Amino acid sequence: MLDRLDQQPPDALLALIKLHDADPRADKIDLGVGVYRTGQGGTPVFSAIKAAEQRLVDTQTSKSYLGPEGDMGFVEALMPYVFGAADPSKGGRIQGMQTPGGTGGVRLALAMAQRAGIRRILMGTPSWPNHAQIVADLGLELAAFSHATADGVADIEALTAALAAAGEGDAILLHGCCHNPTGIDYTPAHWAEITSRLAGSPVLPIVDLAYQGLGEGMEADAQGMRALLAAVPEALIAYSCDKNFGLYRDRVGAFFMQVAEAGQMGKVYSNGLALARANWSMPPDHGGAAVRIVLEDAALTAQWLDELEQMRERIHLVRGRLADAGQAGAVDLTPLGRQHGMFAMLPLDKSQIEALRADHGVYMAGSGRINVAGLTTLNLPKFVAALTAVTS
Ligand code: LMR
Repeated sequence: MLDRLDQQPPDALLALIKLHDADPRADKIDLGVGVYRTGQGGTPVFSAIKAAEQRLVDTQTSKSYLGPEGDMGFVEALMPYVFGAADPSKGGRIQGMQTPGGTGGVRLALAMAQRAGIRRILMGTPSWPNHAQIVADLGLELAAFSHATADGVADIEALTAALAAAGEGDAILLHGCCHNPTGIDYTPAHWAEITSRLAGSPVLPIVDLAYQGLGEGMEADAQGMRALLAAVPEALIAYSCDKNFGLYRDRVGAFFMQVAEAGQMGKVYSNGLALARANWSMPPDHGGAAVRIVLEDAALTAQWLDELEQMRERIHLVRGRLADAGQAGAVDLTPLGRQHGMFAMLPLDKSQIEALRADHGVYMAGSGRINVAGLTTLNLPKFVAALTAVTS
């Protein structure tokens, strides 16, 4: 019976990690999967996290079960950063639970939306490939619109046209900041437009905030989403700590629900618990506990924010250097200077992406997405030269 299953292709982005690792060339460049890298090319554990993990080892007395909601100390400590220090729960209208990474948050958001009667997900494309995979796995319909214009700004007209044609039973999936894969974020004016269109609309907003702090800062990166949440009665939010705490493989995320009135939270939340139980029973504890320890300790919090700022500044530096390089063959790199976060899309075809890998040891996603954090002052000139060579 199992023989009836069709062969599935490996996840292209994850397969790239193995391809890169197997390449013996010393000067290979990994611009594939979205992990931050230092100027030396490493992805070290944050010192604030190391200290918190040590404290966890020294003080944890039991690894007995928590519950489908995970570590609520972690969730509560995170909320002021996500929703603002002033009344993070908005009078009890917002509550959350821990999830296995941001992916777990996206899964719960889409599954809860479906339970509540959502049948169609509006989504700007290109988007993170796993968004469409989760939508498809749940049997939801995807209504794609163009995320960005040819000029490299968010295509707000395509978004508003998609909203105008939407109604009951529809949700829209928005990236909170550091758009993956394009790096093209909504401006404050765009967020104001999106907010005014969604206020009073039956379309349910779902926000995926996976890179808070890697764009303009922890506060600035949440502003657009917060303005939207202030104007709509209900919303669902997926959150990732995998990047801004560097916890990738420990899978640390959260799922938040905003309800119209605080009294509705118990019923809605119980559905979140039931979905989590059916999907993974409980989230893994270790990473979330380490984040909680960081956020409950002022000195560790300051250390974490400082490390995050260094990451953000390095990303800005690399983006600036790429923009300064200007034209690399047929590719104009100047827009990369005004984009946000780790990712950018380059207008390359399959054969150019393949030539970059085979002839120059440059690894990037098949979509043309690069992780700019994979570039350093040392390898950036080689990358620009390789790009010039394959596109000239
Ligand atoms: C990425 O887009 O590279 C990351 O979000 C990693 C992943 O899980 O795909």
